[in-house]
Amino acid sequence: MASIDPTDYIDLNRYPINTPSSSSYRKVLSDIHADLAEDGCAVLRGFIRPDRIPELIAEADTVAAKGHRSFSRTNAYFTQDDPSLPQSHPLRRFYDRSNSFIPADNFTGDTILRNIYEWSAFPAFIQAALDEQNFYRYADPLADVIINTVEQGGGFPWHFDTNNFTVTLAIQNGLQGGEFEYCPNIRSSSNENYAAVQEVLEGTSPQVKTLQLEPGDLQIFKGRYALHRVKPVEGDRKRYVAIFSYVEADGMVGSLERTQQLYGRTLPIHHERAGLRTDSLVD
Ligand SMILES: [Fe+2]
Repeated sequence: MASIDPTDYIDLNRYPINTPSSSSYRKVLSDIHADLAEDGCAVLRGFIRPDRIPELIAEADTVAAKGHRSFSRTNAYFTQDDPSLPQSHPLRRFYDRSNSFIPADNFTGDTILRNIYEWSAFPAFIQAALDEQNFYRYADPLADVIINTVEQGGGFPWHFDTNNFTVTLAIQNGLQGGEFEYCPNIRSSSNENYAAVQEVLEGTSPQVKTLQLEPGDLQIFKGRYALHRVKPVEGDRKRYVAIFSYVEADGMVGSLERTQQLYGRTLPIHHERAGLRTDSLVD
């Protein structure tokens, strides 16, 4: 079997991420910086060449059955109910969740996604795009590069991410629905801003932005402070989105509770590193 070369998949004419000395690289980067400064979200349309998309879809289809299906009710923070708070509090608002994550250990060395994630030019470019000093690949063997699968009627309710920034690649859309909605910087590391979150949950917030991603689009998104969701997918076709995760501290992994919920299992590393966090957010 021929080895996979990420340069065959990424549209390097449009996004020359392996030539940081070029003027076109600097232009791409400055556009991303402007987008991220505006609302914490940058989309690189057609990052993957259109003619290679079918291979990515096939890669997803091959391991789709390995996805961990979740049918649960969660709040935006993935925490338990707290009866001491008023019923209207965001921590007490629970929503149906029905989707599936294909864990990272299904994307082995002979997969396109793994080869993109581990190509040195890719994280270097993402780090420059995010302008982060502390930037590491996620050390979580179940979560570093995964695929989120959403089937008919499913979506992902309002939530915050565990990691500060997420890089996603749209692979396949459902026939309808599946729009991405987000509220930039609605909370910070020191302020949960529950009042504004409550407005979003009640459908009265003016802060919600909507985005329709197409296959091959790469999205750089700051999801730790931006409340976001995926609207329900309609029609008989799965929505596939790959998620490449990076974090600000070396060696970080997901919490035990979160990992069990999202992937249906934990590994020894999750137990060894439980409690190693760099902030005091709820989750
Ligand atoms: Fe998210």
